[in-house]
Amino acid sequence: MRRPLVAGNWKMHGTRASVAELIEGLRRQVLPAGVEIAVCPASLHVVQVVDGLAGSGVVVGAQDCAVEPQQGALTGELAASQLQDAGCTLVLVGHSERRQLLGESDECVVRKFVAAQACGLIPVLCVGETLEQREAGETLAVVRCQLAAVIDAQGIGVFARAVVAYEPVWAIGTGLTASPEQAQEVHAAIRAQLSAHDAEVAAAVRILYGGSVKAANAAELFGMPDIDGGLVGGASLNADEFGAICRAAGN
Ligand code: PGA
Repeated sequence: MRRPLVAGNWKMHGTRASVAELIEGLRRQVLPAGVEIAVCPASLHVVQVVDGLAGSGVVVGAQDCAVEPQQGALTGELAASQLQDAGCTLVLVGHSERRQLLGESDECVVRKFVAAQACGLIPVLCVGETLEQREAGETLAVVRCQLAAVIDAQGIGVFARAVVAYEPVWAIGTGLTASPEQAQEVHAAIRAQLSAHDAEVAAAVRILYGGSVKAANAAELFGMPDIDGGLVGGASLNADEFGAICRAAGN
């Protein structure tokens, strides 16, 4: 049985004051015991959130890490070792906003994935197609390629300590959600690709769906056989809404 995971991606949102409010709101939630819950604040707020959520059962992740695992001369970046030291347990790698707007290549994403694991962090590998690619019928090929970049470079074994997040780019922050069937098709393809290398690893890896997840659509998405939780952007900035999404994952 895969334990569901719901991770909130706060992106470049928040001030110290609004983050303090969100922490309070999260602490008030009744959260399901069977679900792993994480939030990924802006790096600036990681320490505040680690301290604020201590003992709550909610773990903290980062939204990105440097390609180099250890601290060093790399202005403006954060090493996975530093994130681990600050109390993070996971880190998003290859989010589409970084792939698209900041030009992160598959090669760069693989290095970040490796850096995260080298420091004991769980990488959440984000994959997904653009609207143009979906309309051209390229969805499965695009996702296959993004996943293969890691498998080919590092082998299948690394997925025993990783999470995959399928996030169709056209569904992120747009209010458009993939239908449960559309998402399930891609999740099943991801698991099948992993399974072709190692069935046991594939059966255990959690594959999250992301893209306009909200309380109103979470239950039907999480009800699909290969959807093991969600990566939640906008809706994770509201503690009550995020709590409801977490509870949907527990049902
Ligand atoms: P969204 O973002 O829930 O606001 O669509 C999801 C994400 O980018 O992780």
